[in-house]
Amino acid sequence: MKILATGGAGFIGSNFIHILIDEGKYEVVNVDMLTYAGNLENLKSVKASPNYSFYKVNISDQKQIEEVFKREKPDLVVNLAAESHVDRSILSPSIFIDTNIKGTLTLLEASKKYSIKRFLQVSTDEVYGSLGKTGYFTENTPLATNSPYSATKAGADLICRSYQKTFGMDIVITRCSNNYGPYQFPEKLIPLMIENARNDKELPVYGDGMNIRDWIHVDDHCRGLISVLKNGRAGEIYNIGGKNERTNIDIVKTILEILEKDVFLIRYVLRTGPVMINAML
Ligand SMILES: NC(=O)c1ccc[n+]([C@@H]2O[C@H](COP(=O)([O-])OP(=O)(O)OC[C@H]3O[C@@H](n4cnc5c(N)ncnc54)[C@H](O)[C@@H]3O)[C@@H](O)[C@H]2O)c1
Repeated sequence: MKILATGGAGFIGSNFIHILIDEGKYEVVNVDMLTYAGNLENLKSVKASPNYSFYKVNISDQKQIEEVFKREKPDLVVNLAAESHVDRSILSPSIFIDTNIKGTLTLLEASKKYSIKRFLQVSTDEVYGSLGKTGYFTENTPLATNSPYSATKAGADLICRSYQKTFGMDIVITRCSNNYGPYQFPEKLIPLMIENARNDKELPVYGDGMNIRDWIHVDDHCRGLISVLKNGRAGEIYNIGGKNERTNIDIVKTILEILEKDVFLIRYVLRTGPVMINAML
């Protein structure tokens, strides 16, 4: 079985590829344009595998994407490539439209043309907005996008749905909560806090730090993706979560405790207008 995975040099993509290659049952074609968030060092232990190949290609580049599909003839496509940082989407939304929406459309078109057996769109629970004090998102929670990032992810999900309904393509969507684990770029909450704490630098926490998110280990997310690839029903959406809701401040204090650092390193940053809605997630 040949899987074309986009964004394979990023945080979740590289963990996903490690698991697939270790299982020994899949050929993996990694398509990644290596933005600031992509790092081939994450994949150095799989680089020599005969089951692994890499293309440095932008998923929005229709010509190059079609060439990869034509040459590799993948069975399945898993779209992990994205601009993924909420803060960056607030500062520069247009690249999020290009990659997250246009890129997904380009991959869907190529998947239609080359009769891909299944297309898995890796989305996020951020499309549902903010969690309340209790409860979980379900697949029926209404979309409530609070940032340009989540809006582009929801937009891509809806385009996927339309391709499934209009063209009868086999498309599944997953919406996962916040991931933690190896190879994450240190702009996101957990690696940033670890990095700062280890270097005795201040730990910026937005607002009162009471924003609640669910957290899941990246390996569990990746195994969820494989399960949906194998067993999911075409046209379905699957939420993936860890049943592990924490406030940001709880996460930050736990990191300080493990590293035996002082809570006085925490610096509360005031919200300035709409900018810091889900900052650093
Ligand atoms: N990190 C999380 O907690 C989380 C949670 C739920 C869903 N997701 C989703 O999972 C996917 C992967 O997230 P991540 O945290 O690994 O992101 P990441 O930012 O670590 O990695 C993204 C990867 O995509 C590549 N990329 C970006 N633009 C590209 C383009 N135009 N063409 C080709 N490659 C491109 C980057 O080079 C990078 O390797 C995203 O779709 C994200 O929305 C992430």
